[in-house]
Amino acid sequence: MGSEQNLLFAVVFLSSLLLSTHAITDAPSPSPSSSQIFSTETNILTIKSNTVNTLFKPSSEILDFCKDTENPTLCSETIAPFMQDMFDPIKALEIEMEATLNQSMKVSNIISEALTNPNTDRRARGALDICKSQYKSIAQTVKDAVELLNQQNVVDAYYKFSSVISDQSTCEDAFVESRGVTIPFADDSLGVFQLGGNCLAIMDSMVNNRNRYFLV
Ligand SMILES: *[C@@H]1O[C@H](CO)[C@@H](O)[C@H](O)[C@H]1NC(C)=O
Repeated sequence: MGSEQNLLFAVVFLSSLLLSTHAITDAPSPSPSSSQIFSTETNILTIKSNTVNTLFKPSSEILDFCKDTENPTLCSETIAPFMQDMFDPIKALEIEMEATLNQSMKVSNIISEALTNPNTDRRARGALDICKSQYKSIAQTVKDAVELLNQQNVVDAYYKFSSVISDQSTCEDAFVESRGVTIPFADDSLGVFQLGGNCLAIMDSMVNNRNRYFLV
């Protein structure tokens, strides 16, 4: 294995670690119907020592599953560490939704910290307040969508989930409209957009029978 590959693997590993270190601070209480998504929880260190190959080389099924999303690499990198056994498309979608939730919780935490920090620019506070409520709504939306998915209701899950993208952009717009300040979490906001967009693309292909994994 070349050192370039090693480096790439290290970067991928670090980014998945970053995603997973920002915990869901208020995970919904597991109900029977939503338990599936939480059974994907795995200790990242265990993954590292046991399954280095599968972690960093997404299976051909995962690559194929992700290929029609806007960010196929991000899609397969976020799913692969949690999908080491048999490929399961619904579980893969739930993992991508959970990754979106985790990323939005990360942004929520940044917003809360900025709002409590006395050094935060006064001109940014209005936008931060707007973002705080948008991200609260995003977290609830993703949880509701997972719930709908567990009830086999992909169509409603799709429509529900689409507000993740509009809420994310409402937050960004709030900063665009605030003179003299820029969004302090541009990359993390982009992450929510990309992960959320991946979920929508996957659901879209499910609903429209374009994803071979969902053909019945
Ligand atoms: C989401 O965060 C939780 C808590 O840190 C973690 O256990 C889980 O693996 C993460 N899920 C994904 C898909 O990254």
